[in-house]
Amino acid sequence: KGYIGILTSGGDASGMNATIRAITRSAICNGYKVKGIYRGYEGLIHDEIRELTSEDVSNIIQRGGTILKTARSKDFETPEGRQKAYEVMQKEEITALFVIGGNGSLTGARVFAQEHDDVVCIGLPGTIDNDLCGTDRTIGYDTALNTIVDCVDKIRDTATSHERIFFVEVMGRDAGFLAQNSAIASGAEAAIIPEDQTDKDQLEEFISRGFRKTKNSSIVIVTESATGKGAAYYADRVKKEYPQYDVRVTILGHLQRGGSPSAGDRILASRLGCASIQALMEGQRNVMIGIRNDKVVYVPIAEAIKQHKPIDNSLIDVLNELSI
Ligand code: F6P
Repeated sequence: KGYIGILTSGGDASGMNATIRAITRSAICNGYKVKGIYRGYEGLIHDEIRELTSEDVSNIIQRGGTILKTARSKDFETPEGRQKAYEVMQKEEITALFVIGGNGSLTGARVFAQEHDDVVCIGLPGTIDNDLCGTDRTIGYDTALNTIVDCVDKIRDTATSHERIFFVEVMGRDAGFLAQNSAIASGAEAAIIPEDQTDKDQLEEFISRGFRKTKNSSIVIVTESATGKGAAYYADRVKKEYPQYDVRVTILGHLQRGGSPSAGDRILASRLGCASIQALMEGQRNVMIGIRNDKVVYVPIAEAIKQHKPIDNSLIDVLNELSI
């Protein structure tokens, strides 16, 4: 049958180890042999590969990060790099490639499978950003969300004591799931997210709601921005336009990616990992294993990465209603 190859790619996410464990154990249970590919696609190109046994994945379900290491491979974006990866797969007798990662990683898998008919790719959604279509959740999202909420609870103590406005910047790349839902869960006054594309200025909206009339402090969660409109941008605007307010910025950064995975992420990883082997046995190829309405689904990788995953507008309404 050849080997199943597993790699983790892109930003790490808590629950990746639980996914590696589930794929490995389920594969072995069903008569397959497994190889771990180190450092994502980089390790595939450079043949950093070794067999994984059931014992190799012991005692990792509770650990953050990824035992296989991860990378964002520039070489894999080139046809030459992918050709090299293909040759290494042949040499290592890997017949099915299991890719745990986010949007960029699954885009790589799709291009690779398009170039090589005989390559079977199975994707598992592993990213804190929750930005893959066709699945309600991605592995790592729940843990990151809980981490953010813990941090905001702490910031709230000092914000209240000093009567300050805090702009807290969270990750998500260009997706506002972490910001919007952490704002709801932490009782924040507002969230500034990229999906809110109406003409209105999200900061003006927040100020004009007159937050100071009833509250002596405020927390605004802001999605990071590649175009410079992160927490610092909004804080600077408030400092200039409303100098009466005392403003601070906290950028949570990479602490959002670490830590022991939540029970929810461990269970999701275990379910999707087992389902991925099931999918292989059913002859599925080039699909991502997702979860919808608490049921496992197979989503063509092309669909999972096709568009920006929409945020449910009712989440915006919930925050607005509850933050008066
Ligand atoms: O995709 C996961 C993610 O954490 C994003 O939220 C963030 O924009 C990015 O990765 C950060 O990447 P890096 O760890 O390479 O700085």
